[in-house]
Amino acid sequence: MEVEASINARHSVRAYSDKPVSKALLTDLAAQAQKSPSWVNSQPWKIYIAMGKTMRHLAEQQAAYETQGVDSHPDIPVQHRELWDKPQQANMRENSTRRAVYGEEHGVSYPESQRHLYNAPAVAYLTIPKSSPQWSLYDLGSFAEALILSATDKGLGTIPSYSLVKYPELARQALGIPDSEQLVIGIAIGYEAESPMNAYRSNRMPLDQILTIKD
Ligand SMILES: Cc1cc2nc3c(=O)[nH]c(=O)nc-3n(C[C@H](O)[C@H](O)[C@H](O)COP(=O)(O)O)c2cc1C
Repeated sequence: MEVEASINARHSVRAYSDKPVSKALLTDLAAQAQKSPSWVNSQPWKIYIAMGKTMRHLAEQQAAYETQGVDSHPDIPVQHRELWDKPQQANMRENSTRRAVYGEEHGVSYPESQRHLYNAPAVAYLTIPKSSPQWSLYDLGSFAEALILSATDKGLGTIPSYSLVKYPELARQALGIPDSEQLVIGIAIGYEAESPMNAYRSNRMPLDQILTIKD
């Protein structure tokens, strides 16, 4: 698959089949992501992948936290929607509303899927040192997208998700992530389940609203 095909095929997958993903394949994704550019080649990223028994343990713990109504406390704070710029508020509103309606019409619950970490067979947790400059977040974003597109290229589904890092101590304990590292994002990886959950597609703004090009 060419890069462009991967870019067009990628979408957030929120329901995974039980088919496992091999350690070799996950290792290959990390190696691909490692080719990403970074500030003076500083390579600030670390990647911790949960699979098998560790993944099942994490999914059970997450469900227990959700049931108890534990407040989320991600390493990167969540900003209230009203503090975002207006166009971003409008985009989030459009997506949230349309997805909720879609979920009701198709009998699927997006919040419910997150309780069990989407039944994903693997999650990659990405970190940078806490002492990093903001530039390292840019670098980690490149790393994440390379991993996601590489996974798509190999027929895998993914979703980068805040819900995977809303209780950071769970992944920290399960995977031995040190306190000196900031847990930025989790990316679920696996084979897409046949579920209406995965048929929802997000919109994009008209290109002329985000593009300035001058000859
Ligand atoms: C940093 C980040 C955090 C996200 N967190 C969540 C989340 O907690 N729950 C969720 O359902 N989707 C989450 N997503 C997925 C976005 O909702 C999704 O990328 C967006 O709606 C565009 O849809 P698409 O990925 O299918 O193109 C997250 C995406 C990013 C980049």
